[in-house]
Amino acid sequence: MLHSGSRLDLVVVRNWLAVGNMCSKLPAFRIAILGMLVAFCCDKGWTQDPPANPLQIRRDKILIEAMLRLPKGEVKHDEKTNALVRRFLKSTSDGNVFLKVVEHCEPEGAAELLWDFALSNKATDSTMVQAIEMCLNRKGKGIVEKWLTDNKSADKAHETVAKIALANHADVASLLGPLVVDANSLPGVAAAAGQGMVRSTAGQKALLDAATAGTLRGDVKTLVAGSLRKSSNEEIAKAAADVFPLPMSKDQKPLPSIDELAKRTGTPANGEKLFRSAATCSNCHIVKGFGKNVGPDLSEIGSKLTREAMFVAIVDPSAGISHNYESYILQTDSGDVATGLLVSQTEEEIVLKDAQGIERKFPRDEVEEFKKQEKSIMPENLHHNFDEQGLVDLVEYMLALKKE
Ligand code: HEC
Repeated sequence: MLHSGSRLDLVVVRNWLAVGNMCSKLPAFRIAILGMLVAFCCDKGWTQDPPANPLQIRRDKILIEAMLRLPKGEVKHDEKTNALVRRFLKSTSDGNVFLKVVEHCEPEGAAELLWDFALSNKATDSTMVQAIEMCLNRKGKGIVEKWLTDNKSADKAHETVAKIALANHADVASLLGPLVVDANSLPGVAAAAGQGMVRSTAGQKALLDAATAGTLRGDVKTLVAGSLRKSSNEEIAKAAADVFPLPMSKDQKPLPSIDELAKRTGTPANGEKLFRSAATCSNCHIVKGFGKNVGPDLSEIGSKLTREAMFVAIVDPSAGISHNYESYILQTDSGDVATGLLVSQTEEEIVLKDAQGIERKFPRDEVEEFKKQEKSIMPENLHHNFDEQGLVDLVEYMLALKKE
């Protein structure tokens, strides 16, 4: 029972702390007292007991308070102090306190602790970004890198990527770089990475280099075109004007850049009307049971794509074709040409589904040529069927399509 300590111990510790605090005029004495207190408690083994009981949690809290009042350089880094700090970090639910304690006590494995915290539901938007920054400052790049490799095609990953992108750190551009050239990252993830890279000159340079080399994903290319063409770095802006053409609007004027479009707000109800009528989206997409299933079901697309990625999906559908929706072109002996999505293929026949949702069978021995196309069967220039505000309304509508 020595380990869990008695209530009396708690009173002793608290009083000791009070004495330490009273000596504010005598800093050296105060440091000595607080230092002794922490050492004494660690020595008694009070800092080791798992699992924590309520008494211990209170005692830990007092000890941590004492440590926070010691100058940073005086905080010990031995095994026992580490155990105390780590246990405290586990029990606290206040993100700001968490970050303050890590900053002050620098426990062993701080980078991992910070990354785990960033991903936990204890983190708010701001403490998450702060934790990622602190993690990177503690040589945590490898941890973040591994997470990105493992999660680049996970459903909610774009939210985390967007936060990494907000961290102010030199490693961010090189962490996000691989995501914008990798065909296997989800469109939302690639988009969040691209938008993050636009924020720094290093990121802009990397995007420009990838586009010049032809390795930049098409969806990211459309997404960042406007920002790079307007870069405050003149050299980048000049080079971008050649490498990043802008999509055209109905009247052959360039559309505003994606980031400008994304600043506007629309009316979801108008968007829904368009989706089902002039824009012809329902001819190919089901939303909550309505429409045809040529393309993917969009009933929950609002949880998958960011606002910016939504614009790209419409104005440049071939830019980032979803897996399983690649389109194929086929020519028969008699010269018939058909395009569509591949439904199935066996030794006897190939089945394609065309843009009207009709499945057609082609016997193998009549097929002369059959290959994958670079282009989506979702038509380009659908946005010529409506004006800019219609486009914004459509996106507003789709963003609201979430899991119920
Ligand atoms: C001729 C059929 C067709 C029409 C019409 C069409 N789409 Fe598509 N759409 C597809 C196919 C096929 C895909 C998947 C391949 C791809 O990503 O290009 C797709 C993909 C998408 C995606 C990306 C889905 C994802 O999971 O990443 C969005 C968003 C989208 N369409 C929205 C629209 C909107 C909005 C309209 C109307 C303006 C529309 N589509 C009209 C066939 C169509």
